[in-house]
Amino acid sequence: MQKRYLMTPGPTSVPAEVLLAQAQPMIHHRAPGYSKVFMSVLDGSKYVFQTENDVLIFSSSGTGGMESAVVNLFSPGDKVVVVNTGNFGTRFVQICEIYGLTVTELAYEWGEKANPSDVAEALEKDKEIKGVFATHSETSTGIVNDIKTIGDIVKDTGAAFIVDTVSGLGALEFKTDDWHVDVAISGSQKALMAPPGIAFVAVSKKAWDMVEKSTLPKFYFSYKKSMAALQKATPQNPFTPPVSLILGLDEALKMIKEEGLENIVKRHNVLGKAARAGVKALGLEFFGACDETSNAVTAIKAPEGIDGKNIVKIMREQFGITIAGGQGRIAGKIFRLGHLGYYDKFDILVTLSGLEMTLRELGYSFDIGAGVSAAEKVFMENSF
Ligand SMILES: Cc1ncc(COP(=O)(O)O)c(C=O)c1O
Repeated sequence: MQKRYLMTPGPTSVPAEVLLAQAQPMIHHRAPGYSKVFMSVLDGSKYVFQTENDVLIFSSSGTGGMESAVVNLFSPGDKVVVVNTGNFGTRFVQICEIYGLTVTELAYEWGEKANPSDVAEALEKDKEIKGVFATHSETSTGIVNDIKTIGDIVKDTGAAFIVDTVSGLGALEFKTDDWHVDVAISGSQKALMAPPGIAFVAVSKKAWDMVEKSTLPKFYFSYKKSMAALQKATPQNPFTPPVSLILGLDEALKMIKEEGLENIVKRHNVLGKAARAGVKALGLEFFGACDETSNAVTAIKAPEGIDGKNIVKIMREQFGITIAGGQGRIAGKIFRLGHLGYYDKFDILVTLSGLEMTLRELGYSFDIGAGVSAAEKVFMENSF
């Protein structure tokens, strides 16, 4: 027998309460019983997004939410700025280009954070820019961008601010309204503690004004269709929703409300701090600008002479702990520990312990127990 631990930055562990909620008998998605759950999910989503804006839900992974923002707000040839700090910034570039937008890419080395003044400069240089896209928590490198400062820059321009907070929302501080985010995008399978399959978007008044002018084709991801269904006497989705996932998500959002966002952010701060302390105590190096904000994902350089893919493989096969490797151009060079969502102290300790045993197996030299001990100290000194 091997007990399994899921320590990736998505999908993440799903609490038993959520799994059980999903096992409820099927209900019909046009009946009042569904409307009640659906409205409760929208309410809970607004709380997590910290927004009074409309929240819409799509049956897709996070990428569907990203695509929805492009097709609903823009028209072919529109000029946009994409802040690209890694794999998911690159995804925004790809989606925008495929739909014929004219993209100014602010590309950073993977591992670097975006410099908000570059956004200010790009907007100053071209007053016709209609959108600024950015990633909050760049899951591929572990860095967290300063969305608040970029939002302050974009708010008084004609551009909409579109933010991917797929791996940030529900783990890190994120204030849709206070930070002037016009379309905030997230997904169910990360810090929201539910299985993959649902994308959320929070849409501001400024964004809705752009929706009215947008000419790009859209059908399944149409914000107008979603809103029309939401405004019916029995609020619903335009197309058959993943009913069981919605039931699970409702439970997850209730758990989030009960813990409270402030406490959740505090918990993630401590989990991130402990993970970093453990990694550092093993003499490992972080990848890029990993700092006190990197509390959803810890990205670590594979030690000299060791392939990061082997670390991931041994952790999973011998110790039952699934962590993530590097993506794209940094595959094999780094490995990543996810600690966003349904995670507590002992998840971090188990992961560090498995990492130590894996590294020893691969011939890396360090003091056995040093990582676990450093993390334990953080937990004893920082409550949540
Ligand atoms: C930052 C970020 N953006 C977007 C996505 C969307 O990916 P998916 O479509 O696989 O949910 C992910 C998932 O890994 C992510 O971490």
